[in-house]
Amino acid sequence: MAHLEASNLFSVKERVVVITGGGSGLGRIMARALAINGASKVFVLGRREDALRETAAQAPEGIVIPVKCDITSKESLESAYQAVAEQTTHVDILFANGGILGPLMRSPDAHADGTPPSLTELRDALFNVPMEEFTRVLNVNVTGTYYTVLAFLPLLEAANKRRPAPQEGVLTPPSAQVVITSSIAGFVRKVPFSYAYNASKASTNQLVKLLSTNLADYKIRVNGLVPGLYDSEMANNIFVAHGHTTGGVSEGSFPKEMIPLTRGGSEEDFAGLIVWLASNSAGYVNGNLLVTDGGRMSVVPNSY
Ligand SMILES: NC(=O)c1ccc[n+]([C@@H]2O[C@H](COP(=O)([O-])OP(=O)(O)OC[C@H]3O[C@@H](n4cnc5c(N)ncnc54)[C@H](OP(=O)(O)O)[C@@H]3O)[C@@H](O)[C@H]2O)c1
Repeated sequence: MAHLEASNLFSVKERVVVITGGGSGLGRIMARALAINGASKVFVLGRREDALRETAAQAPEGIVIPVKCDITSKESLESAYQAVAEQTTHVDILFANGGILGPLMRSPDAHADGTPPSLTELRDALFNVPMEEFTRVLNVNVTGTYYTVLAFLPLLEAANKRRPAPQEGVLTPPSAQVVITSSIAGFVRKVPFSYAYNASKASTNQLVKLLSTNLADYKIRVNGLVPGLYDSEMANNIFVAHGHTTGGVSEGSFPKEMIPLTRGGSEEDFAGLIVWLASNSAGYVNGNLLVTDGGRMSVVPNSY
């Protein structure tokens, strides 16, 4: 029964991984979790080299490799791809995780007496946001994600070519995988965090579906992560607003109307999901959107 032992089911040994947005937040958790558990190379991509180096410093020595990259530039993606290709023959998993929130674009709060904002107030608040800001969010979260996947296809294909030929009765190892970080914002619609962010994440959900269907012939799997609320540079202001400078992972940290499990997501919650998704036992997962939100998606229209 050795094949059912956790050490076999959840092994990520020797995996070669690329992570955009690896210099902070969820990308840093991904990098550390995979490096600590035996991945052989974890390339972390982002614009801030100091942040990428800090991720490397927090992982076992020599495993995490910083590569400067702006995912909104094809030239930058191409040179990052070349830098990775010089250091590995293949990539088993690409995490297209980099993203931005952009400015809040939502209806103003109700007045002190409880009356809702007038349509003029709503229009002013939303119309005052420069169009370029809306486009910037879509550009990073959708366009950048899409071109990131395209850029790394050859190295993902190379990973598939390394697999042994199928043998009757023997489980074939997992094929190469793309994992795109979406958000519950891509599903909720009553109270958007930001029209641009929510629309961008709905698009990344669709990208997961489109890419998983269209890359199926090449045996490149595509899955999506749908986080709720995790402390990170992007989300920290929500934690601070609720009096948590770090963490917020103990029950009772947030009202149940906001998150049914009353806490934020932890490093362990996310790392466990990542290790499983990168492991042999997730080899049959394809075209999926995996929600990790403590139940927040079902109540989010009521609260931030
Ligand atoms: N934290 C949450 O609660 C939560 C919930 C749902 C979804 N998400 C999603 O999770 C992903 C990671 O976000 P996070 O929460 O970990 O926030 P974060 O700490 O702000 O991380 C975002 C990362 O994206 C990178 N990035 C942004 N623009 C980039 C660009 N043009 N090129 C390359 N990299 C770029 C940033 O690196 P540089 O600035 O160095 O480039 C940064 O490391 C995002 O897609 C976000 O939408 C987060």
